[in-house]
Amino acid sequence: MRVQHDDVPAPLAEALALAGQGRVLRFWPELDCAARSRLLGQLAAIDWQEFSRLQRLARARENAGVDAAFAAAVTPPCLRLGVGSDAIPPDAARAAGAGMLAAGTVGAILVAGGQGTRLGCSGPKGLVPVGPVSRASLFSVLFGKLAAVRRRFGRSVPLAIMTSSATDADTRRFLVETAHGGLDPDFVHVFRQHDLPAIDAATGDLLLDAPDHLAMSPDGHGGMLVALAESGGLEWFGRHGVEHVASFQVDNPLALPLDREFLGYHGLSRAEFSTQVVLKREPGERVGVVVEQGGRHAVVEYSDLSPALAAERRPDGRLRFHAGSIAVHCFAKAFLDRAAASDDSLPLHLAHKAVPYLDDSGVLVRPAAPNAIKFERFIFDLMPQADRVTLVEIEPRDGFAPLKNPAGSTADAPEHVHAALVDRARRLLSEAGVTVADGVDVELDSATILDASDIAATLPPGTHIEAPLVIRRP
Ligand code: UD1
Repeated sequence: MRVQHDDVPAPLAEALALAGQGRVLRFWPELDCAARSRLLGQLAAIDWQEFSRLQRLARARENAGVDAAFAAAVTPPCLRLGVGSDAIPPDAARAAGAGMLAAGTVGAILVAGGQGTRLGCSGPKGLVPVGPVSRASLFSVLFGKLAAVRRRFGRSVPLAIMTSSATDADTRRFLVETAHGGLDPDFVHVFRQHDLPAIDAATGDLLLDAPDHLAMSPDGHGGMLVALAESGGLEWFGRHGVEHVASFQVDNPLALPLDREFLGYHGLSRAEFSTQVVLKREPGERVGVVVEQGGRHAVVEYSDLSPALAAERRPDGRLRFHAGSIAVHCFAKAFLDRAAASDDSLPLHLAHKAVPYLDDSGVLVRPAAPNAIKFERFIFDLMPQADRVTLVEIEPRDGFAPLKNPAGSTADAPEHVHAALVDRARRLLSEAGVTVADGVDVELDSATILDASDIAATLPPGTHIEAPLVIRRP
């Protein structure tokens, strides 16, 4: 179909005609100047070669046959936090990790492109309050952890924050309003991931969700690789002397991406990719699993694993695939450089979703069932390319309490996160000889309390807490 509109640039008109997507301009005559330029901007950003790849994938209609691919896979050995191995005892790991933090060779990436939609809020998930007493937001709690590391080890950890089209403006506003969450602005780099078009599952066509707007969605946290490189983030890390990059998700306020023992195992094992895991006990837990096959490691996403394979158990009663990925990783910076330089490091995954779209008469249809295919890249798909992978098992109560679902859900709901944060605070307080009355909420200020030694320097042993309190080291 030829595309004939005087004010559509000829190369774009040609690309649309070649791709058979001229229909996205069907409301063109009714659009004013601003609306036209909005739509043109979106269309100009589309890589048409990639679009035809998306269409081919959508036609195939499924992700790669995971069960067949991992028929011979096993769960690889893991180090355990606090236990280590003969070769790397925990003390050696802690000393090495502390050395890395004091030398300023560790950077971090916070993956914060997601919205709080499932929680019923439209802004960035990072703005959702989670502090059990302070009501501090996820962002505040997580940024605080970097401030605490700077206090203890004397060096700032450069932090790259990945936003998406949905979260970028609000995240930047939060940073301005909170003086960068207490971090040195020279050590904060905000970059935005790309969007990919959603495709009509039946026809493979682009969808409009407004007369001047294509239905798009963020390209998954794997989008961080390209977007970080394009934004100059890899050089930025390099200028700060970063040799290892820890990455973590905005939804987990207990995350321990800068735990010195974890970093020490990563550094001493000279790993290119390290990752924290928790013991997956039940097949239905919504965590990806780390597997090993033919000497290569990979993460298989929970939605890609068949129920039969997910439920298989070993003779010792453990699930065959029990190394649950909590999406806290550490990469060698050189490994990220190498992956970013390769054209096609990360495959696309498909998700069938209900995406609102304009029908031919311009009415917005909100389908009840999936009508479209969205595409995402996952950063953990880099794992098979890593020459050395180190897995570190942690206890969920120490480092995994993700906020994913609304109140009242059976798992990963605000009340579970609240309980996990209070429980960790009570345990550390008890280690420091401080007792708390039953049923009283306590919170450790993440920016000043790294561990029990900070509590000991704040509250004398024997202190008894009887009312809700945020413990903050002066
Ligand atoms: C994710 C992991 C899963 C892991 C679990 C642990 C993926 C695909 N799955 O599941 O293996 O066991 O966490 O909690 O990662 N995000 C972006 N941009 C995007 C998409 C997501 O920044 O385009 C961020 C979100 O803000 C969130 C995180 O990535 O912080 C995870 O997103 P989500 O896709 O919801 O994965 P989960 O189902 O939570």
